[in-house]
Amino acid sequence: MTIFRGTFLDTPDNPFSGGSLRVATDTAVLVQDGLIVARGNASDIRSAHPAEEVVDLTGGLVLPGFVDTHVHFPQIRAVGGLGLPLMEWLDKYALPEEARMADVGYATGVATEFVRGLAAAGTTSALVFGAHYADAVDVLFTAASRVGLRITSGLVVSDRLLRPDLLTTPARAYTESLALAEKWHGVGRNRYAVTPRFSLSCTDDMLAACRTVLEEVPGALFTSHLNENEAEIATVAELFGGSDYVSTYDRHGLVDRRSVLAHNVHPTDVELKVLAESSASVAHCPTSNAALGSGLFPLERHLQAGVRVALGSDVGAGTGFSLLKEGLQAYFAQQLLGERGCSLTAAHLLHLATTAGAEALGLSSEVGDLSVGKRFDAQLLRPADGSPLAVGVAHAADAEEVLARIFTLGTPADVRAVWIDGQLLQDESSSGPTHLA
Ligand code: GUN
Ligand code: ZN
Repeated sequence: MTIFRGTFLDTPDNPFSGGSLRVATDTAVLVQDGLIVARGNASDIRSAHPAEEVVDLTGGLVLPGFVDTHVHFPQIRAVGGLGLPLMEWLDKYALPEEARMADVGYATGVATEFVRGLAAAGTTSALVFGAHYADAVDVLFTAASRVGLRITSGLVVSDRLLRPDLLTTPARAYTESLALAEKWHGVGRNRYAVTPRFSLSCTDDMLAACRTVLEEVPGALFTSHLNENEAEIATVAELFGGSDYVSTYDRHGLVDRRSVLAHNVHPTDVELKVLAESSASVAHCPTSNAALGSGLFPLERHLQAGVRVALGSDVGAGTGFSLLKEGLQAYFAQQLLGERGCSLTAAHLLHLATTAGAEALGLSSEVGDLSVGKRFDAQLLRPADGSPLAVGVAHAADAEEVLARIFTLGTPADVRAVWIDGQLLQDESSSGPTHLA
């Protein structure tokens, strides 16, 4: 067993339902086989367990590991393609890079960069949009297993309107998806996600094949894109005889508690009602929405309708792995919506980046906060001496202000250590104990 001692911030009580930030100073958690088995005043825990090793994290802040609910593995080298809306961005930046994943050697290099980037940003769990090639998805699961990340991912499938080298058939999609799920689903911390790219690039036959895979892999998730961009939405309506976007998935039985749909910047009220009634989740990806000019996310309408919302980085349309940056951009977007916006505090941002993500991914009994009974998936934030964040933290009036400054100024460079199941993640390239960037 190991005792971790320090100041812990988390959000076990949802701030969107009246809860507030939990601030625990001079506290310790006792971790056995990755599980938090006791938590309390540091000296009480110490005297109850005098023989256990103590990891002293005082001087920094311990947060739960972040949960990224939407991030594209093959797009890490495409980050920074600015200036285009969705469909043009896909054609110019994202899809040419995704086609390179046909080369498994290339995919291996990208997978290594990808898992390192996630961990360095303090992200311990992620729902990852995979690649269009089964071997590349296999390589991703291998890389994630080596680092120990909690990854849910799958083969991305499409059978129309993308460049031909990214297309497959429903039969092949079914066979390859099942083979990947058999190899990786439930193995270590890996799970499978059925992943049609978006209904724009999938026929009804392909979406039906996705449904079959979902039925045959108990515990698998479903993920795709939804209502991101006005031109995209108009094309989907044309392709599906005027249907709304949610219906294109829902009529194949793909919208339920296992579903995580990215973006939903432009939903109708009817679609929000369907999402709420089916307990599906929306991955809000604020830097992507800003970078592609997709629009300002209607968070208040989602909350009013009772739709589950969490955060996603959406790398590579998003501008990096850090959910601190996503949280800040989520705050900006709500400010820009004026009266239609939702006034977000730092506690809301932390909730969106941790507990809400765990709920969306069906992991809330395991991760999302640092209570007894949860796995010790955590990150230590400690800004460099004299940095703007260190100055800001030193002069904050209370823990809420500290957290607001972390979301405003924090970057992966401030993430000094990351644990999953109580295990410190090691940077293979430097053999250093902590920083993975
Ligand atoms: N819609 C379909 N594919 C993508 C993608 O790769 N990124 C984003 N942001 N939206 C998409
Ligand atoms: Zn995406």
